[in-house]
Amino acid sequence: MSTYTTAWKSPSNIALVKYWGKKPTEVQIPSNASISFTLKNCATSTTLTYQEQDALDISVRLEGKEEPNFIPKIEQFLKRISGLFPFVLTGKYTIDTSNSFPHSSGIASSASGMSALALCICDIAVEKGLLTEDKFKETASELARLGSGSASRSVYGPMGEWGKHVDFPGSSNTYAIPYPDVADVFLDYCDTILLVHKGQKTVSSTVGHGLIDDNPYAPARFAQAQENMTKLQGILSSGDLDGFINLVESEALTLHSLMMSSNPYFILMKPETLQVIEAIWAKREKDGVKWCFTLDAGANVHFLYPQADKAAAQAFIAGELAQYCENGAYIHDEVGIGAERL
Ligand code: PMV
Repeated sequence: MSTYTTAWKSPSNIALVKYWGKKPTEVQIPSNASISFTLKNCATSTTLTYQEQDALDISVRLEGKEEPNFIPKIEQFLKRISGLFPFVLTGKYTIDTSNSFPHSSGIASSASGMSALALCICDIAVEKGLLTEDKFKETASELARLGSGSASRSVYGPMGEWGKHVDFPGSSNTYAIPYPDVADVFLDYCDTILLVHKGQKTVSSTVGHGLIDDNPYAPARFAQAQENMTKLQGILSSGDLDGFINLVESEALTLHSLMMSSNPYFILMKPETLQVIEAIWAKREKDGVKWCFTLDAGANVHFLYPQADKAAAQAFIAGELAQYCENGAYIHDEVGIGAERL
């Protein structure tokens, strides 16, 4: 019986074209393709010690403290990935995980957490001779997807693309691929996460994805997302900031309009979310800056701006946007290179 220990640090990501809705009869297959910036600072570091034994035994520590609440989710994840690697259903897992961002910040840790765990499991699969290096990232992304769809994209920097799309050669519904064809301006684009509301979301992503099946706007949305993927390719390669702003903000508001047009309907934005958006629009109108926002499935705002504008944009955050954040809190981040072995 052998014991393996491995560790990975994997980042969070923020989608530009959003994944919202999955195929109802399949496991974690998206209804449209999506693409995201991989972040640099918001990340999960996970150390996994795996000991071969006949029974399954999982223990998890989060920030150094036992976290038994995570065990059912990890068990479900192991069951889902056992189709690829049957060995995962037995063994003793000792998982030590920590996030670079505060647990109660309202930033979802599923993308970074699931991708970090998936990468650790792939290392064990390599040790066992079940996986070769040439398929390593693809397989890690596939496992991550089975944990949380958006996690599939976190494996790669500066951007990850997930979902079959004719204009993205090699794209797949089962794993993400790296997307490197971006102008220099986007390689180190800044994202400050404005922590408007740090509490738990009232409706989880899992429930939200499920509600899209009965949403009358869903077919139009899926077609629009596929078109936006193609439009974004041109924007990213040419460095067209006006095109970027228009497409990215439209995607964010469309995501939230899908929530509002589901039944039961729900709203995840808070009054401060709209106040931040209005302040960004007013600033853009007044000074012609190329700054914009996107949203994930929550109230926080991702404020996006070029690295060259960092000083001015961060002064604007401190002076005008911080007042709308819970306890004035925000996190400066930027586009990163993807997951790293520790
Ligand atoms: O990966 P999930 O199931 O948490 O869904 C993520 C959905 C969004 O963050 C709203 C969009 C996306 O593409 O990341």
